[in-house]
Amino acid sequence: MKKILSLVLLTLVAFSTFANGQKESGKIVIGANIYSFADNFMNGVVKPELESYAASKGVDIQIVDSEGQQAKLNDQVDVFITKGVDVLAINLVDPAAAQTIINKARAAKIPLVLFNKEATEAGAMASYDKVWYVGTDSAEAGIIQGQMMVADWKANPSWDKNGDGVVQYVLLKGEPGHPDAEARTVESVKAFKDAGISVKQLALEADPNWSTQHGNDKMAAWLTSSFGKDIELVICNNDGMAFGAITAQKAAGVRLPTYGVDALAQALTHIGDNELDGTVLNDGANQARATVDLAINAAMGKNPTEGTSWVIKNDGTKAVRVAYVPVTKLNYKDFQ
Ligand code: BGC
Ligand code: CA
Repeated sequence: MKKILSLVLLTLVAFSTFANGQKESGKIVIGANIYSFADNFMNGVVKPELESYAASKGVDIQIVDSEGQQAKLNDQVDVFITKGVDVLAINLVDPAAAQTIINKARAAKIPLVLFNKEATEAGAMASYDKVWYVGTDSAEAGIIQGQMMVADWKANPSWDKNGDGVVQYVLLKGEPGHPDAEARTVESVKAFKDAGISVKQLALEADPNWSTQHGNDKMAAWLTSSFGKDIELVICNNDGMAFGAITAQKAAGVRLPTYGVDALAQALTHIGDNELDGTVLNDGANQARATVDLAINAAMGKNPTEGTSWVIKNDGTKAVRVAYVPVTKLNYKDFQ
């Protein structure tokens, strides 16, 4: 009798271990990554909220660093699948590599929530019924930043240093091919054209890491270049790069109109110190919460937005898009 009982027990233990993979019994496990822990916004805002919000919901989230390498992420996803996680929450390194990840999730029958970097391959999102996206409307940040810059330009005639009525600008773009970087670059400048103000691009530099170091290096080089004295506006597609641009300006003893995106805590401090003219809140905390909410629902086989306030428009993108908010001298304290 004893023997039989222990055999039954053993079988039960073996079965539950098999069914749950590596996870604690009963708990939902989310296998997640951040494309690079070196990214200010992803590491400083999104990652901590993914962790604390998942904990508050009683689920286990495992977050790995893909170190800016898509090949590394592909391997990490294979490991998560082998471990038997219930759902994947993936921050692509290369937005053009979504299909690879979707194919892996589909083959393993594991639901997948992509976040922050939207798939750029046509048809990728439609190729699996259990993949969704959480991010923003990429163009919106550029539109808001552009409108902010146009208003300030009009209010400060002295910003047109050479008085030619044209905005001579430099632009720090971020990652080429990233939907956010591409859309912001177009929309911020378009706001001037839409307002009937001519613009002239003096320089534009891209950086796959969106980094402060890059912002500093480029701004320093531009300031000492042949057009250094002509720069009237510094457009930064994220705050991380703006921080570098601010440091370089301080080192050179100049203060040019400078704008970012994200509204990181340090950016709010710079606005208070009159070193940054504006930024746009990229609501990473709510993007993290939406990612976890969708992941939990998907893991339980429910409709991804069930019981939440997130909305997926019926437009084929299968996306929850969190709104951007303008942040200026007038309202920055509300975000501190
Ligand atoms: C943020 C950037 C960040 C990038 C990472 C963007 O939405 O504004 O700061 O580097 O996402 O993918
Ligand atoms: Ca000018």
